[in-house]
Amino acid sequence: MVLREIQDLKHTVSQLMHSGKGILAADESDKTAGKRLAMVDLPNEPDHRRAFRELLFTAPDIEEYISGVILYDSSIKNTTTDGVPFPDLLAARGIVPGIKVDMGIRDLPGFPGETVTKGLDALDERFAEYYKLGARFAKWRAVVTIGEEIPTDAALRINAVTLAEYAALAQASGIVPVVEPEVLFQGDHSIVRAEEVTIRTLQILFDTLRTYRVDLSGTILKTSMVLAGDSNTAVSSPEEVAGATLRTLHLSVPHDVGGIVFLSGGQTPVRATENLNAIAKLGSQPWPISSSYSRALEEPVLVAWQGKDDNIPLAQKALLYRAKMNGLAQQGKYEAKRDKQRDKKNIATDSQD
Ligand code: 13P
Repeated sequence: MVLREIQDLKHTVSQLMHSGKGILAADESDKTAGKRLAMVDLPNEPDHRRAFRELLFTAPDIEEYISGVILYDSSIKNTTTDGVPFPDLLAARGIVPGIKVDMGIRDLPGFPGETVTKGLDALDERFAEYYKLGARFAKWRAVVTIGEEIPTDAALRINAVTLAEYAALAQASGIVPVVEPEVLFQGDHSIVRAEEVTIRTLQILFDTLRTYRVDLSGTILKTSMVLAGDSNTAVSSPEEVAGATLRTLHLSVPHDVGGIVFLSGGQTPVRATENLNAIAKLGSQPWPISSSYSRALEEPVLVAWQGKDDNIPLAQKALLYRAKMNGLAQQGKYEAKRDKQRDKKNIATDSQD
């Protein structure tokens, strides 16, 4: 890649990794958007999907805490009710528009319980179209499940190669790739096992990215925090999560990677904030570190909205508030005891596809 192109990618990385800000992953597929709408008893129809996204993207002042928004094919091509394209609306607010380009997962034959991610076909053409629509970064998610005999290296390798091809195509199109190998929180595994699996996953991923000549400085890693599975009796404390997560990253992520963001993975919104804060409190690291949450940002908004127009201002305040808490946590300045949403019932719904 020529210097100019690398500089453009690095510029986007620095916008996304702005201190005190995080990325909103509003990139649910249409099917997964239906699960969000079901929480407020709305049928999964285009108008309702649009209403939810419009509410999110027009929320006052969120640009103070949100650096980028990941869209989905149907939302990057959609508009507000007044006809403003969503990516234009975001860009005008100084928020970088992004796009999820993977097409979900399929089973890996011969490897029970393991999957590989689909979506490489014609990806170069899709990137060219998304760039024209305003996308400057993209996301591709691979799923790693922890079980007694999984993940296998074979499954980790095929997903790493797929992520590398996606990342190389993104960079060739002027788009920053977010590479996301999500080690699922769902399961009864211990934090030690999660650490082992995440280290292996990331080591294989970065070896492969280098092999396929992906420019790491123009790449963002989106990873899970290292924590005990949601059905393990042990709940990992923020300090344990922070220690295990940073140990893992130091053992497996090259220092020239442009940035690292965490997914929330089914943790409650408050827990996702507390854990991010504990990580930031351990001091500055070789990479900028922040969040890229979907459920942990959207769930409090849905709870406030309930699908009713009258509740839109309240729902928008809930988004601004949660984004602000995460912005403070990114700097290690969050105080859980002052968090207004701390004691609210917050549900962790199914992951996205
Ligand atoms: P969650 O924060 O809900 O885990 O989603 C993040 C994401 O982008 C998953 O691909």
